[in-house]
Amino acid sequence: MSRKKKLTPQSISREEAQSAALERFKPLITSEDFRLMLADLARPLPLAFRTNPLKIKHRAEQEWASRYGWKLDPVPYCPTGFWVTEGRESVSMTMEHRMGHYYIQDAASMLPVELFDMDGLEHPLVLDLAASPGGKTTHLSARLRDRGLVIANDSAADRITALRLVLQTWGSTNAAVTRFPGEKFGRWYPETFDRILLDAPCSMQSLRSSESHPMRPITAREQEGLARRQGSLLAAAIAALKVGGQVVYSTCTLAPEENEAVLDEIIRHFGSSVHVEPLEERLPSPAPALAEAYGQSFDPQVVNAARLWPHRFHTSGFFAALIRKTGSIGFPQETPPDRPLSLVGQTPLATAQAHKIRSFFLDRYGHDLDAILSEHQLQLWQSPTGIFAVPLAYLERFSGLPCQLLGLKLAEKSADEWIPAHDWVARFSSKFTSGSLVIPPELVPSWLRGEDLELASPNSGVVILFDPDGRCLGRGRSSGGKIKNLLPRRLI
Ligand SMILES: C[S@@+](CC[C@H](N)C(=O)[O-])C[C@H]1O[C@@H](n2cnc3c(N)ncnc32)[C@H](O)[C@@H]1O
Repeated sequence: MSRKKKLTPQSISREEAQSAALERFKPLITSEDFRLMLADLARPLPLAFRTNPLKIKHRAEQEWASRYGWKLDPVPYCPTGFWVTEGRESVSMTMEHRMGHYYIQDAASMLPVELFDMDGLEHPLVLDLAASPGGKTTHLSARLRDRGLVIANDSAADRITALRLVLQTWGSTNAAVTRFPGEKFGRWYPETFDRILLDAPCSMQSLRSSESHPMRPITAREQEGLARRQGSLLAAAIAALKVGGQVVYSTCTLAPEENEAVLDEIIRHFGSSVHVEPLEERLPSPAPALAEAYGQSFDPQVVNAARLWPHRFHTSGFFAALIRKTGSIGFPQETPPDRPLSLVGQTPLATAQAHKIRSFFLDRYGHDLDAILSEHQLQLWQSPTGIFAVPLAYLERFSGLPCQLLGLKLAEKSADEWIPAHDWVARFSSKFTSGSLVIPPELVPSWLRGEDLELASPNSGVVILFDPDGRCLGRGRSSGGKIKNLLPRRLI
């Protein structure tokens, strides 16, 4: 007996939204492409993840594949991206996922950050103008090898916590989170950034609905509003970019009004000061943008952008353009906000204190803080919640700009000892060479559930835990034959 699929009101509207979008997009591609696209949309999309080179060793994904029975297919335009096409263990349930060794991300969303040229940039200033929840910020941080600075901005107050947590789990030291309308950055910081990502708020007409990107019907009026905001954000991004720098503009919609038409408008506005770069060499096969849509012809450069119809690389629908700024532009300027960090209780760590904490880390854990601070150009700052390693680039260029997170937490002070912060330990676990404990494999599941362990350790106080395969399990406090579980609650 065949079972009828139960339709909820939400799934009905998603299905209706998808067929309405298909009808609208049908005139934009050939009938052969349309047929191929329908066939592709009938195939489920496997989950994909992007590895975290800041935390893992080269080719760690091969180890995970054999541990979890995964079959991995590489995402062709992203060297750190993989689809999981088969597997015993869900990608979202592993210890590596909790510890930030990879980020689960739709393969289409791995494209924009890969488009940037990063070679030869020593300590670049990078802006992610509409960043939450931060998937692409983690990609930027990884591509910069955690050097320079990434400002991750989002205007929505209720999306800032997610952004902070994603960056902390990833272990970025070179990031700062701000909460401003992105439109402001062009006026506040003209010709300042080397690279800017604008992954714009859009109508999400990607043709593949998911929990994080639900498709819903969209009115012409809403779409006009979105296109206007996308144009203002892109103009601000170009204003904030250094001459010679690159902006990537991306959306997860296939609506030409929010893609090709926005680019066309920007080219008309800024003329020869911007150039949309061809992408053939960065893509496995051509995925050109539209030359015209619904009777409107676009500037000839617009086709240089990439339009990912879902069947092109078996992804959700997506759009991305790489724009180089080729000349200065006139743009109104305004003084940015100026709130000294001391007003929110953040101060540089006094030299004597900094010396003490360095010695403590070296003596107790064999952990050479100096080497890390100098490699990543970080400085130790004290805040009401602990000691942070903060990017020098922020202090030098943006120290008055109020931020929601700056750098990575290093430690907290408790009585007469320092407690290394979980996110620091998880990020630099291979550099904790003493003061650690390997726990037997049969105790790992209960540890990951947040339970304390009956286990003696040669070291008392806070110890760094590993499993027999060398995977870091965070910190525990050892005393009287027990290890108290100090995993952050968000990971349990
Ligand atoms: C497509 S999402 C970004 C997804 C993100 N780049 C990622 O990969 O995780 C767009 C974001 O733009 C933010 N946003 C909307 N209007 C904005 C504005 N005027 N300035 C800055 N951010 C804005 C939204 O809050 C939303 O988080």
